[in-house]
Amino acid sequence: MTNSASMAVADLAITRHSHTTTNYLSSSPSLSYHRRLTFRHLPRTTTTTAIRCSVTSDKIQAPVGIDPNQKAECYGVFCLTYDLKAEEETKSWKKMINVAVSGAAGMISNHLLFKLASGEVFGPDQPIALKLLGSERSFGALEGVAMELEDSLFPLLREVSIGIDPYEVFQDIEWALLIGAKPRGPGMERADLLDINGQIFAEQGKALNAVASRNVKVMVVGNPCNTNALICMKNAPNIPAKNFHALTRLDENRAKCQLALKAGVFYDKVSNVTIWGNHSTTQVPDFLNAKIHGIPVPEVIRDRKWLEEDFTQIVQTRGGVLIKKWGRSSAASTAVSIVDAIRSLVTPTPEGDWFSTGVYTNGNPYGIAEDIVFSMPCRSKGDGDYELVKDVIFDDYLRKKIKKSEDELLAEKKCVAHLTGEGIAVCDLPEDTMLPGEM
Ligand code: LMR
Repeated sequence: MTNSASMAVADLAITRHSHTTTNYLSSSPSLSYHRRLTFRHLPRTTTTTAIRCSVTSDKIQAPVGIDPNQKAECYGVFCLTYDLKAEEETKSWKKMINVAVSGAAGMISNHLLFKLASGEVFGPDQPIALKLLGSERSFGALEGVAMELEDSLFPLLREVSIGIDPYEVFQDIEWALLIGAKPRGPGMERADLLDINGQIFAEQGKALNAVASRNVKVMVVGNPCNTNALICMKNAPNIPAKNFHALTRLDENRAKCQLALKAGVFYDKVSNVTIWGNHSTTQVPDFLNAKIHGIPVPEVIRDRKWLEEDFTQIVQTRGGVLIKKWGRSSAASTAVSIVDAIRSLVTPTPEGDWFSTGVYTNGNPYGIAEDIVFSMPCRSKGDGDYELVKDVIFDDYLRKKIKKSEDELLAEKKCVAHLTGEGIAVCDLPEDTMLPGEM
């Protein structure tokens, strides 16, 4: 480990010990009193990585009255930069929240983390600690992400930790944004994917159950996200089932965009869009209850065939079409939709509107099978919780489509019975439906 005394104040140092935490030091006095970046240790590693900053040590001045030698547990410039003025500034801030992000070195996270740190998601008075979960293979990239976060000088970002053990990373977290999952490889059956990713989410569920805040909110993004969310929830019996979400907000956003395009209006005029069901090609973008300028969509877009066929299929397969263009899965729009999904839970839903999220079906008023995670329309008071919307209408078309997605999720559930504590898995999927990205 680099000795603190010999380390230039302009260095940012990541040091990994054989035990708990390492401080991450900032070179900027104006920045570092705001933040403390902490790195979780990989037990097996003993190396030190120093990251040089462009500011040289002789340009740095310690705030007056702070004696670096007084704080034995820290080293370098971080010890010099505690500043009482900053404490004054931050008195109006809320209590810091702890947010974990898995797959933190991936493309989606690369967009999301900077939005989280900027205050765009939880608000400009909400300090945040980011706990980044990656894999052993991605650890170098995780360090790179942490460096970029530091270099971004976000005042609200008080702490960053990185690690590969969910039991460490999820300690006391209030939000878990579970993005990391394996993509379906060539020749891999959907059942294989359910099993491989299911195991990841079973383990993460157990870790959440053991160490996270008792009211942690969990947003599952890694596919197949509905069933992964169910697995995660079943492995975390001490956390309310209501707190688990599967991300279908991207599908809602896609549906809004298509309706706006067809109607020739800006997309902020489209409201009350529900995505029902699974984040797969059986998902049902509901045009029956959707509104444009407050008017039911079927009265604005008088082309039922387009709504039932083109619109529905465009939304269901949008992810796949995008992959063909990009050569990779949606990342920026997924990150934006995660932001939307969280904001919908932490801010009151506008009067008369709702949002879609995949949630546990027990007690739902729509007659959808219990004990699955299904995307449905919700409203929130802005307290992180939600209630299902009751005033929605159904017709035969909508019912039939919803049933198909429900059947798919019930079949997926049987495939992962070994991961939900419900016995032996019997995997007999009715047809090999796709994730949106697999088309
Ligand atoms: C999407 O909808 O864009 C993604 O879920 C696609 C995928 O399979 O990664």
